[in-house]
Amino acid sequence: MRLDAITLFPDFLRQCADVGVVGRARERGLLQLETWNPRDYATGKYRRVDDRPFGGGPGMLMLIDPLRACIDAARAAAAGVDAEPAPLIYLSPQGERLTQATVRRLATMPRLLLLCGRYEGIDERLIAREVHKEISIGDYVLSGGELAAAVLLDAIGRLQEGALNDADSAAQDSFEDGLLDCPHYTRSDTEGTAGIPDVLLSGDHAAIRRWRRQQSLGRTWLRRPDLLARAQLDNDDRALLDAFRHEWLASQAKNES
Ligand code: ADE
Repeated sequence: MRLDAITLFPDFLRQCADVGVVGRARERGLLQLETWNPRDYATGKYRRVDDRPFGGGPGMLMLIDPLRACIDAARAAAAGVDAEPAPLIYLSPQGERLTQATVRRLATMPRLLLLCGRYEGIDERLIAREVHKEISIGDYVLSGGELAAAVLLDAIGRLQEGALNDADSAAQDSFEDGLLDCPHYTRSDTEGTAGIPDVLLSGDHAAIRRWRRQQSLGRTWLRRPDLLARAQLDNDDRALLDAFRHEWLASQAKNES
């Protein structure tokens, strides 16, 4: 998959793409990142990329023309990589909130263009004409879209086939089935096995699977009831969750007495 990022801070995104799983995906040729700096397409003595908004008010907006030239150059550079023009995603707090389902869908595309805003944002006409989708990574305001693009790059990169060493680990992630992940434990010289649920040391793989599913359901109930309300649960799930609730409420009552 190829990602083209339009950003005033290309070094930041390049560094993000060099480390960890995403770095490995790039080394393995599973993911390619190209960056495009609007400043390289700005004209005039000062190569300005921003200006004041019409109507007044605080802050500056990114200028349309350097951005459009940048987008055109990015598109032309990989023309023919895919039949359809690659979708342009603008990272902005006004966008649709990013979810794992969206990440999964985007990760299957051959190519994406990411547009990182700075200052107070981008001229609305450019958004209307060029942007296919606006994506937000959460209800808070960052000083630019680069961190959000890095989040997307990471989430998409790790899903490229062959990027993760253990093929199962993506399937077990939080959110893959609409639920939070279960707790995990590993060896410790200082802690020994204290505090580790017995079932995980039992070697009974069916019981371990059930326990993990129950913890996943229980954690989602406790921490993200909004996710649980949307999750598809079968009868086994409901029975596991009922048992979890029962135990949890009993332990709360005990702690209070
Ligand atoms: N740019 C500034 N804030 C952002 C956010 N929350 N998500 C995506 N892009 C942003």
